[in-house]
Amino acid sequence: MNAIAIDGPAASGKSTVGFLVGQSLGFLFFDTGVMYRAVAWAIQDRGISSTDSETVGRMAEELPIGVSAPSSEEPDGRQATIQIGELDVTWSIRSPEVDRIVSVVAANSQVRQALTQKQRLIGLEHGSGEAGVVMVGRDIGTVVLPEAPLKIYLEAPIEERARRRFLELSQRGKDVKLARILEDMRVRDLIDSERAVAPLRPAQDAHEIQTYGATIQEVVEQILLLAEKVFGVGPVSCGKEDISSEGSSGIALV
Ligand code: CDP
Repeated sequence: MNAIAIDGPAASGKSTVGFLVGQSLGFLFFDTGVMYRAVAWAIQDRGISSTDSETVGRMAEELPIGVSAPSSEEPDGRQATIQIGELDVTWSIRSPEVDRIVSVVAANSQVRQALTQKQRLIGLEHGSGEAGVVMVGRDIGTVVLPEAPLKIYLEAPIEERARRRFLELSQRGKDVKLARILEDMRVRDLIDSERAVAPLRPAQDAHEIQTYGATIQEVVEQILLLAEKVFGVGPVSCGKEDISSEGSSGIALV
């Protein structure tokens, strides 16, 4: 199976690194966090409380979440286009307000059951195909795709992760405070690590990589070296073109 599972806490670098690894190997990149974020955004939009477990669970089962490679008309740095029905929610699901409730939503067992099932199907379909898949999240190596031959767990101190998220949001023009982001992240890490179903933790056979003090490229290269050992494949020169041509067709992943 050509599958790489990348897990780790908030802003540990999973999506930046995972996306680049996917491009280098010509593997499909799939960020599972966007699905939890889409449900969190939808309940907020509809005025539903994140603690109303039954309604939130039903929302996860019924919400028409679409994830597709961005088309060439969307050159705003997005890794994927996320839709709820026809509505493009790619950037709105990344707001600090969604950050504040998403972990409560993700701790709901009905939500996890609905989303994990979809994610596993995507992982199995693409991981058993020729192209391969890089899946990122909190429980990919432990629950979603435990049979992935290469598992990575990314780490970084919380102060560094909060700083990264602060820069990311500031660059998108959000008026945010570092101290608030740090506090929100502490709460989110705690809920993610202590929930009863699929808590955040490294799989037993995961390679743990510290991203603090390393450049993005250095982390990507470490993973590519491991991938070469496990899959016997190195970076493909056509990886980038593959992704963008896939993008221009707007291929639907979910
Ligand atoms: O980008 P960041 O690391 O801050 O978060 P994310 O990967 O977009 O995930 C947002 C939230 O979704 C996490 O805090 C988890 O509560 C939840 N999540 C999860 O429970 N399981 C996953 N496989 C992915 C995300």
